[in-house]
Amino acid sequence: MQAETAPVRPRVSSTHDCRLIDLPKIQDPRGNLTFVESGSHVPFEIERAYWIYDVPGGSVRGGHAYRKCHEFIVALSGSFEVMLDDGSHRVRYALNRSYHALLVPNLIWRELINFSTNSVALVLASSPFERSDYVRDYADFLKLRNTQ
Ligand code: TYD
Repeated sequence: MQAETAPVRPRVSSTHDCRLIDLPKIQDPRGNLTFVESGSHVPFEIERAYWIYDVPGGSVRGGHAYRKCHEFIVALSGSFEVMLDDGSHRVRYALNRSYHALLVPNLIWRELINFSTNSVALVLASSPFERSDYVRDYADFLKLRNTQ
């Protein structure tokens, strides 16, 4: 008789998997330079980049999670905060350096808040834009996490 084995579930990301990544900073009297490469600084293949700018004071961006997509967020200019939530824990990161990036895996609820004037958020994403990848209802997010 064959022993029954429990199905192996892929591990669901938590706020502990979200982290700040120091990017190379090439200092130069002519102006500094920072770069990123897929596979080394960004732990996924970059399939898409988008940026958020001209954010009016007090606006909140995000307010959702992705089923599959991983993101890498940089404050290219100015500053803002990113609130991350895995359904059990909340952490908040202040991004204010263009050589710091925040890695946000899938299934993490995020809100981007407290944008300074003229701030620019660059986001590198692991998949092309797909509306069905969004979870925009927090109760659905909690349900989804509990069934993973
Ligand atoms: P959304 O991801 O909801 O914005 P936020 O950054 O605040 O979470 O996107 C806002 C709108 O832009 C929405 O209608 C989808 C559209 N959009 C695209 O068409 N392509 C993209 O790559 C992104 C990120 C958004």
